[in-house]
Amino acid sequence: MKTRAAVVYEHNEPVVVEELELEEPKSNEVLIRTGASGVCHSDLSVVTGAIYYNDAVALGHEGAGTIERVGDGVTDFCPGDRVILSFVTYCGTCRMCLMDKVCLCESYDVPRGFQLDGTYRLYNKSGKPIYQMARIATMSEYMVVPEQNLVKIAPHYPLEKAALVGCGVTTGVGAVLNTARVEPGSTVAVIGAGGVGLNVIQGAVLARAERIIAVDIAAKKLDLAKRFGATDVVNAGASDPIEAVREVTAGLGVDYAFEVIGNPKTIVQAYRMVRAAGTAVIVGMAHHEAEVSLPAQHLVSTERQLIGSFYGSCRPRVDMPKLLSLYEEGKLKLDELITRHYRLEQINEAFADMEAGENARGVIVFD
Ligand code: APR
Ligand code: ZN
Ligand code: ZN
Repeated sequence: MKTRAAVVYEHNEPVVVEELELEEPKSNEVLIRTGASGVCHSDLSVVTGAIYYNDAVALGHEGAGTIERVGDGVTDFCPGDRVILSFVTYCGTCRMCLMDKVCLCESYDVPRGFQLDGTYRLYNKSGKPIYQMARIATMSEYMVVPEQNLVKIAPHYPLEKAALVGCGVTTGVGAVLNTARVEPGSTVAVIGAGGVGLNVIQGAVLARAERIIAVDIAAKKLDLAKRFGATDVVNAGASDPIEAVREVTAGLGVDYAFEVIGNPKTIVQAYRMVRAAGTAVIVGMAHHEAEVSLPAQHLVSTERQLIGSFYGSCRPRVDMPKLLSLYEEGKLKLDELITRHYRLEQINEAFADMEAGENARGVIVFD
């Protein structure tokens, strides 16, 4: 069948929206009609090559849709089911999965972009095979994905809100509640108040942090941060964020600092912002070749902790429905995250708006 999708052929060139041939779902795969796809900075990182695919790739990893058809052996899902796409595939039985670290599942040794059997589902008009970002590629009208990547949701949730739970909300809230397990009364700094960082702020509110200090270089993002629950804001373009955070915390530093950009410079800032024995949590995906340099003796003598948080250390089928329930109860903001809707053809405009700091989140909607 045919699908229109957003494809990266060359790094740092405009993304191409074109019609592709999509194969039918094979065993344990599902065909989904996409409802909405959020535009996350990690998509732009695929365009720039910071997140590296060695050939043409269809973009998108934050989406929700409706099941159209299922392949052989699929028993847990039926046509008509509404689902969020998880961007990790997990088996549920390996060592990492059994340790509740399903995002670090070790079962699938398949190169990036392929389906689990090592083949493609997407081809362009010349017959060239096209990878699927994170094995899903949500910036496409239809997608064929492994059933392991699906999270069934109640049918009444709007797909454009559910889509955001597929990456930004789960990554941000999960970093606070699952990875760091922030205690009530903690002081928290969040560097980068974008689509993911605003959700770190929401997570800190849910964890009942006492002070939530948002750091960004865009005044618009700092206003948004306040609306999402930041108690203090620091414009890193105007003042030194490490000093500013120290001032707010009476010279101590924060209990937790979250880096939500993926920049070695701000990763070091996060490390330097925390108090002795405090924890810096790195959420932003830096360039795949980037390295970070830290004061080695200081790390030991102050017992600081530096930890990574991938996908909010989530268990998709447990955490994503919970996050939607919190939304329903009015405890999690999803409506306010969506600044603008785009058509798939406007993907390059959506990236330009992201780079200009225009949006909390831009969302691509499909008919
Ligand atoms: N200091 C402070 N804030 C900064 C700086 C800086 N030096 N550089 C950029 N920012 C801010 C931007 O102004 C923006 O508000 O960081 C924010 C990044 O937000 P988005 O572009 O919306 O990115 P987002 O989708 O939130 O992703 C952030 O998380 O999941 C990862 O891969 C993703 O690495 C990416 C990160
Ligand atoms: Zn993302
Ligand atoms: Zn596993």
